[in-house]
Amino acid sequence: MKIAIDGPVGAGKSTISDAVAKALGILHLDTGAMYRAAGLSCLRAGIPVEDEDRVTAHCRALELDVAYADGRQQTLLGGEDVSGLIRTEAVGKAASRVATYGGVRRAMVAAQQRIAEKTSMLVDGRDIGTVVLPDADVKIFLTAAAEERAMRRWRELQAKGDATPFEDVLRDLKARDHQDMNRPVDPLRVAEDAVVVDTTELDFDQSVAAIVRLIREKCGAEKEG
Ligand code: DC
Repeated sequence: MKIAIDGPVGAGKSTISDAVAKALGILHLDTGAMYRAAGLSCLRAGIPVEDEDRVTAHCRALELDVAYADGRQQTLLGGEDVSGLIRTEAVGKAASRVATYGGVRRAMVAAQQRIAEKTSMLVDGRDIGTVVLPDADVKIFLTAAAEERAMRRWRELQAKGDATPFEDVLRDLKARDHQDMNRPVDPLRVAEDAVVVDTTELDFDQSVAAIVRLIREKCGAEKEG
């Protein structure tokens, strides 16, 4: 079984994907973590992320893989578990830049396809239904209104003691949406055969339940048909 979940920043893809995969008893591949590991590696090597040629050469040679411990993804860079190190703002920024380069994307897509072909998986990212798994059994485009996504992000920041004003969070989120949807290589878009799930009016449990139901309906219907 291959499930593709794509969507804009702040739609809750990672946490919802984790819970959905668990409910279905399959593994979850977070492809954003791989772009983050590539970004981290460039930062460590002192390669300016603006230098497309050097970044691309560096990322092509990377040994990127994932392992699973108790069903949780560990992101491995040359065998080192970097799962914790990639969750910083600086690494997120570097990831977002290196993800705009065609050569980097080709290397990441090949690595993701190699990982996903081994077993049943739910894969989340920006280009899964369109590029990585065009033949996925179910494709979901998970979204919510920009104001709602910004509000969720703002609440997370507040809980961490970060006082960034809501207006700034909303402006940054809209800028990320624009960059993701307008980059020349593999922009974020709704695959033709994707089901759009809008979680603006749904809480976390309702979102997970809606997606699990949708996948069961689709996969059940395919088996019967
Ligand atoms: O989902 P995230 O924030 O962990 O992703 C990090 C960056 O990687 C983000 O800027 C978008 C990019 N990305 C991508 O271009 N394609 C994917 N399949 C996954 C992430």
